[in-house]
Amino acid sequence: MTTRRLVLTRSAALLGAASSGLLIPAHAQSNKIRIGLMLPYTGTFAQLGQACDNGFRMALEEKGNKLGGREVEFFKVDDESEPSKGVENANKLVQRDKVDVLIGTVHSGVQMGIHKVARETGVLNIIPNAGMHAATRALCAPNVFRTSFTNSQPTLALGKAMMAKGHKKAVWITWKYAAGDEAGEGFKEGYLAAGGTIVKELGLPFPNVEFQALLTEIASIKPDAVACFFSGGGASKFIRDYAAAGLKGKIPLYGSGFLTEGLLDDDLAPSAQGIMTTLHYSTSLATKRNDAFRLEYAKKFKMQPDVYAVQGYDAGQLLLQGASAVNGDLSNKKALYAAMEAAVIDSPRGKWTMSKAHNPVQDMYLREVKGKENVVLGVAAKALSDSGVGCKLG
Ligand code: PHB
Repeated sequence: MTTRRLVLTRSAALLGAASSGLLIPAHAQSNKIRIGLMLPYTGTFAQLGQACDNGFRMALEEKGNKLGGREVEFFKVDDESEPSKGVENANKLVQRDKVDVLIGTVHSGVQMGIHKVARETGVLNIIPNAGMHAATRALCAPNVFRTSFTNSQPTLALGKAMMAKGHKKAVWITWKYAAGDEAGEGFKEGYLAAGGTIVKELGLPFPNVEFQALLTEIASIKPDAVACFFSGGGASKFIRDYAAAGLKGKIPLYGSGFLTEGLLDDDLAPSAQGIMTTLHYSTSLATKRNDAFRLEYAKKFKMQPDVYAVQGYDAGQLLLQGASAVNGDLSNKKALYAAMEAAVIDSPRGKWTMSKAHNPVQDMYLREVKGKENVVLGVAAKALSDSGVGCKLG
């Protein structure tokens, strides 16, 4: 047989197979649900990405790693918290790996890329952290759900707590990107409403940690207090530098709770004492649900959980509830989304529900660093919902 004839015979056989339905695309050969995890596994948010991953997998493992009766298969991409690669990385999971659901991500700028791909392809996206407003406001989408917060949610209740302590004039400082700017919006709204004045807004590009000049400026302004958004490795450096600059104990430091979340080890704790923050979780929340979660997480991962682990865990819980309502048939989108919209999540942070725009309606806690813990002082805002302004869902 000549090579040419062999080729012809082969392609005829392939054609036959195709017409009889035997040529199945590689990804459809297994009946597993394909889950894409797009998170930062390197860089200043590496610890946050890993915690989301841990929490998500733990929720699924609790249910035998099955979604609506179907087995699952994981695909992973390190997004490096690099916004310029957001679309490309999301497409690796959606176009190349053909995932049924994309879990991601941490950084708001990268989320923009995921959001574009989610809107264009219709792939189900569950956001386990990034708080960018547009995802559940003007650009909200039926296939995009968030289990974390909007960027302005944690800071909304901060100003009231500061005014209660008599801090009437504050400096706001943050990384200049979507998360910092939007956290600033929330802070401004709450603080001004409570009667405070923001005397100066300071910023530096993400993920820059050259804080020295800005801290010198704060020292010269002498505000009653400082409020900020920083997170991950950069937050740890900010807390350390704030103390080293001699500001700790002189000008009280406040922030959204990311500032101290998952960071209070022996090294950092001395510089962090007394920092007050608002957030939708604290590891030291004294509830049975949280105790059980902490125990299981510590056994599995040999460390304490933080808010990122909880948000990842709740992304898993949300997907489990949705998938179970459609017996694992994620292509039944109408019923899947309806179940996810109606879900009540029994979270370690406390029970929460979905807003019409697909963002958690949840309590915010006021916390203070004592020892190596974010001790809960009380509820700073009850059942706080983001405005969802501009969203036409529901
Ligand atoms: C964000 O970029 O949306 C972001 C990152 C880290 C946080 C919170 C928000 O801790």
